[in-house]
Amino acid sequence: MAKPIVFSGIQPTGNLHIGNYLGAIKPLVELQNSGEYDVYYFIADLHSLTGNMDATERKEKILHIAAELIACGIDPKKTTLFVQSHVEGHAELAWIFNTVTPVAELERMTQFKDKSSDQQKKNVNVGLFTYPVLQAADILLYHGTRIPVGEDQKQHVELTRNIARWFNNRYGEYFSEPEVLLTETPRIKSLLEPTKKMSKSKGANHVIELADAPAVLEKKIKKAVTASEGGGSSVGVENLLLLLSYFGSVDDHKRFVEEEKSGSIKYGELKETLSVSIGSYFASFREKRDELMQDHNALAAILVDGAKKAQAAASDTIEEVRRLVGIR
Ligand code: TRP
Repeated sequence: MAKPIVFSGIQPTGNLHIGNYLGAIKPLVELQNSGEYDVYYFIADLHSLTGNMDATERKEKILHIAAELIACGIDPKKTTLFVQSHVEGHAELAWIFNTVTPVAELERMTQFKDKSSDQQKKNVNVGLFTYPVLQAADILLYHGTRIPVGEDQKQHVELTRNIARWFNNRYGEYFSEPEVLLTETPRIKSLLEPTKKMSKSKGANHVIELADAPAVLEKKIKKAVTASEGGGSSVGVENLLLLLSYFGSVDDHKRFVEEEKSGSIKYGELKETLSVSIGSYFASFREKRDELMQDHNALAAILVDGAKKAQAAASDTIEEVRRLVGIR
């Protein structure tokens, strides 16, 4: 029997940070290594056009994120890893889906509401509005059945289920409805504003990037906010302890949690231990990433190969869809 198809993707942003890693990449690597699924993972460069990045930067970031994904353990031999725009069918299927999707349904999307109200007020383009339709096309082009995403993308996968249904109602039963495989969203906070989610938009010192060298880690973590004025339990300290639970040894974690409870904790020591732990956890990542970044041709060859595999699956779907809607 065919394995269930796991399908997910990521925009070509800058360096991956620890939040991306724990919430998206690590769970995907685990699904890949379980051997129970046919896994597709892609770099959503067409989606990134809805943002404000310039062309040179985009080109660079696509290769860059590919290197980081592989260095994190996404194995191109096991997972079909590709770039969205390298495969024909995404944009065409999105267009067809646009014609079965009511405007009012897209107006309900919270990500659209958020993005159009703050991040990019000056660039509220139509692409941003139909972004979730392109996402539905990504998923259904490969007949993805299990979609590992974080809480923030859940609504888009639910819309994908609706789009499958709207299409089927109009043109005949063809797509099945994918299911969200909700990944645990670790509550990692900004180092400098620990009441807010860790996010790059606030600045480099707010986040821990996987590529941060030990010296950089030490500096950033040293600056992390700990006990708030007046003492008491601090969200900053909790955040550092949470990070230690993921990246440090069980013993170190236990020790600092106990010291925190008894009030004997030394923040300097906690920070030092955490920096060293994260630095060594990602040591082989940094090595692999640098190696891949030095050989753009090898990296490009991996992506070409991934696109070939993806194209084979996509072509079957798009042919059938054209037939169903009566354009070929
Ligand atoms: N919108 C997703 C994000 O920003 C990226 C994405 C695009 C995606 N297409 C997808 C994720 C299809 C899962 C499936 O994280």
